[in-house]
Parts: sequence; C-alpha cells; structure tokens
Amino acid sequence: MDTLDQLAQEASAAFAATDDPDALEQVKALYLGKSGQISMLLKGMAKMTPEERKTAGANINRAKEAIEASLAARREAIRRLALAARLAEESLDVTLPGRGETRGGLHPVTRTLERIEALFASIGFDVADGPEIEDDFHNFTALNTPADHPARSMHDTFYLQEESGKTAEGILLRTHTSPIQVRYMEAHVAKYAHLPTMPEIRVIAPGRVYRVDSDATHSPMFHQVEGLWIAESVSFADLKGVLADFLRRFFESDDLQVRFRPSFFPFTEPSAEIDVAFLSGALKGRWLEIAGCGMVHPNVLRHVGIDPEKYIGFAFGMGPDRLTMLRYGVNDLRLFFDGDLRFLRQFV
Ligand code: PHE
Repeated sequence: MDTLDQLAQEASAAFAATDDPDALEQVKALYLGKSGQISMLLKGMAKMTPEERKTAGANINRAKEAIEASLAARREAIRRLALAARLAEESLDVTLPGRGETRGGLHPVTRTLERIEALFASIGFDVADGPEIEDDFHNFTALNTPADHPARSMHDTFYLQEESGKTAEGILLRTHTSPIQVRYMEAHVAKYAHLPTMPEIRVIAPGRVYRVDSDATHSPMFHQVEGLWIAESVSFADLKGVLADFLRRFFESDDLQVRFRPSFFPFTEPSAEIDVAFLSGALKGRWLEIAGCGMVHPNVLRHVGIDPEKYIGFAFGMGPDRLTMLRYGVNDLRLFFDGDLRFLRQFV
C-alpha cells in the first residue's frame, strides 16, 4: 500500500473518530486545509520533474478525492445521528391514555327556556326580548297598573338610584316580562300602520325579572316567559287549549292535570292562575301554581294604539324556574342560582 492510500485511510479513520460537526471540521483541516497534508504534498510537486509531476499529481488528486468522499460520508452520518438523537428526545408517547375533554353544559333553566321556545315555535310563536332595566310606563302604567298598586311599592320593586343616591324617577328592574308585551305591541303597531288590518301577534318573551323577595321558593332574580296572542278572534278557549297542550308536551305526560283558577291581574280580564298536578310520582295530587294568564285588558290595547273593539287576545306569564324544579324534582329554587357545579353538573 503506498503512502497516499495510507493517508486516505488514516483520514477516514480520523473522521470516523469524531462525532460532532465541529470536531469533524477541525480534523478535515489536518488533511484538506490550507496547510493540511494534501496541500503540503501538492506544494512538494514544485521540485519534481514534469514527468514525475504528472503521475504524482494524478495520485495526489485521487487521494484527495478519496479523503473528500470519506469526509462527506462522515458528515452525513453525523447529521443522521444528530437527527435520530433529536427524534428520540422529542418523541411523543402516543400510548398515554387520553385526558378526556372537559365540556361545559347548559344550565337547567336554560334547558327549560330552550324547550319552551321550541314548543311555542312549533305552533308559530315568535321569540322577543326586552330590557331588564325598565321604565315605570312599560312595567306598570301601560299594563293598567294603578299608582296605588302594591307591586309599585319599594317593598316589592327594585328602583334604580342615580349616582347622587337619589331615586331615579321611575327607573326600575322589571318585575315581570309583561313590559315586553307592551314593547312588542308598540313596535308591531308602528311596523304595520300602513295596513288596513294588523297581522296577528303571536309571541313569547323569556327573560330575567327582579323582585324584593328571597326564600326557598323565591329568589330576588328569577325567570319568566311571557306569551301573547292578539288577533281578530282569539278566545279564552284558545288560551286554555294552547297552555294545556303546551304543559302536556313540556312534561311529556298525559298524566297531568291542569287547572285554571280565577285570579286577578290589572292587565287581563278575566284572569286566571294555572296550576298543575301530577297523577303519579312524588308530587302526586299536589296543585302547583306555574303561571298567570288572562284575556288582555282593553286598556292595555288602548295604551299601545290597538283598537280593542277590533282585536282581542290572551296573555300569560309563566315561571320556567318552577317548571324546571318540577321537571327535575328540585326542591330549593336557590340551588339554581348558587353556581355550585356539583349541583349543576347533574343536568349536563
Ligand atoms: N305578569 C304577571 C306576573 O308576573 C303574570 C301574567 C302575565 C299574568 C300575563 C297575566 C298575563 O305575575
């Protein structure tokens, strides 16, 4: 083996002994660098005869190429080793068990509201909304509620204060969803003022309402769903039919008794309260009040510019919190609003 072959082998062994790119470059300089072995050999050719130079040149070049080839091979090998090391380090253990998804859920009262909306939508009711901060006109006056009515007292109603602490004149947290009736009728009348006959009104309005009240069956904030159907001929029989049918569908039960008990509201005449009783189960035979209703009082229609000689209809206001308690067998209304996840998770 001549010395050039030996040199090439020695270089290859030296490259193989390195295992990182920097060390490899340093070893490379020993052979291929400006003052490396190959350069020295090439410089040595200056003293040779032209004949000798020819063969020596070819041999040195072959050795140089061999060294370059083993350098390239080692570089590639080191790159692969580094890659393999990185992959090993960063690998994901896909055999770990999943952590599961944490999903939110709908509040039981929200479920009830959605259910009520779907059932009324199926018989052609629109869904409306209104402000929770109301004025005295929409909450009381337009609803035929006289100035001396007890609902108007500070005892029953949250009035708002100005920053000065002074009571803001006639601004309050709505005590029921009935003002949405008024707002909806006002808008409806304005929208169809150009028509000789007003299209009928069929709407429900769910929302939060506020009263100065708090015990196991009353919360200062609770929910109501208002309903209103005004047309040229809507009767008390329609009211009974719509609500009795709704309740049977809501509770998914024909085992349900529905009773209309005469009552009084300033904004309906005649008025009734609706009670339900179950024919079986834990609450068997107990009458529970779940809504107020009646034929809309002519004064309410007059307040919004609807002719009570031409149009007639019914309204109702029901308590979805109560309906939720009955449907799920919950005995304390306040549980719905405490925000305790241990309670709420049961409904998800
Ligand atoms: N607004 C009444 C209440 O809060 C319920 C009701 C609504 C009664 C519509 C009759 C008609 O008690």
